[in-house]
Amino acid sequence: MSPTPAEEPWSQVNKIELRKVYDSRGNPTVEVIVHAGASLKGMASCPSGASTGSHEVVAFPGGSVDRGIEFAVSKVLGALSGLPFGKQEDFDRLLKERDGTKNFSSLGGNVATALSIAYARASSLVAGIELHEYVGRLRGRPETPFPAIVGNVLNGGVHAVGGPNIQEFIAFVEAREFRTEVEAAVAVHREVGRRLRERFPSAALGRGDEGGWVAPTGDEEALEILSESCHVVRESGKYPGASIRPGLDLAASELYRDGRYHYRDRSLSPAEQVAFVGQLIDRFDLAYVEDPFEEEDFDSFGSLTRSLSPGRKTHLVGDDLYTTSPERLRQGLRMKSSNSVLLKVNQVGTLSETLECVRLADQGGWSTITSHRSGETTDHWLAHLARGFGSAGIKCGVLGGERIAKLNELLRIAGSASS
Ligand code: PGA
Ligand code: ZN
Repeated sequence: MSPTPAEEPWSQVNKIELRKVYDSRGNPTVEVIVHAGASLKGMASCPSGASTGSHEVVAFPGGSVDRGIEFAVSKVLGALSGLPFGKQEDFDRLLKERDGTKNFSSLGGNVATALSIAYARASSLVAGIELHEYVGRLRGRPETPFPAIVGNVLNGGVHAVGGPNIQEFIAFVEAREFRTEVEAAVAVHREVGRRLRERFPSAALGRGDEGGWVAPTGDEEALEILSESCHVVRESGKYPGASIRPGLDLAASELYRDGRYHYRDRSLSPAEQVAFVGQLIDRFDLAYVEDPFEEEDFDSFGSLTRSLSPGRKTHLVGDDLYTTSPERLRQGLRMKSSNSVLLKVNQVGTLSETLECVRLADQGGWSTITSHRSGETTDHWLAHLARGFGSAGIKCGVLGGERIAKLNELLRIAGSASS
């Protein structure tokens, strides 16, 4: 019997499906399928945030997934039909044009994101390459090392009622083999859990929205537990050559009110916050610090960046500060506000604008960190974007099916076939 001939991919868009699906918090979101042949499908669903930056585009018009889908079907899909595959900028420009607003308030940034990524996936299928290769070609730079894992192991803030004020306590793990990174990040997660059980023997330990532990600790106590756990895992001898260091996402806009940062036991002025975070970086050798100040304070970001000691590599990352907006990132680059930018496609709504941020960061010598949202689906396009963008890190949590899905996909991309 002769083998079935390979399916002929379509050269242009002619069928797109959208449907309402649900994220890891049970909130409705959108899934898009861009058909690229009789059985070739580029599929993508969109995650959603809880500690959202105020400069993000609108997620869904009037908060309604149904309205976003209706708008796409009635006003957008017609314009996309007939567009050749591989024309990412044209596709994304059409999304913006048809939406007709500055912040995707007609279509919804989450609908735009799912469309943009599903089209990228379909285009990669048509070209016979992986999504990360397609994204890498759009970035236009040679391959870089695999990303570090920026793994949230202890949750607080708005992701974990009853936990610390600081939103995320992170294991930052870098190793030559991605598999080693996964194993070491899981080991830190377990060690943190073990220590929390020891310290709070009668407390009911839970897990937060991003799969990290939740326990009734204060901020510095949580950081001590994280730091000791990183140390124990590093010194175990099981992960030779791996760098395993603590990190934080302070999500400081959530702590900021009336000009001060409010913690359970005190409140700090912006200058005091600069000193406080600087001292945490020194004391705990932090590899990663995200959003230590509220989302308009480019100046305090700049002060902390200037105070970083050149001998210690710390990614000082803007999330709510930049909201993946090329315009806000340009301002940060001009003011030298940080040395790294967090990338969340649905903060801006298209792959092309996210790529513009990648190119700006590349030109400025800054690192990028490709990030999940606290409400996720099991889709794993994030892994391909992190690889294609050449990001220094993938921030996607460690445990929980929707988080580990991204890490497992990076293992596939790494081609680590056995063991
Ligand atoms: P979000 O939070 O996905 O809830 O916005 C994640 C973060 O602040 O990094
Ligand atoms: Zn953040």
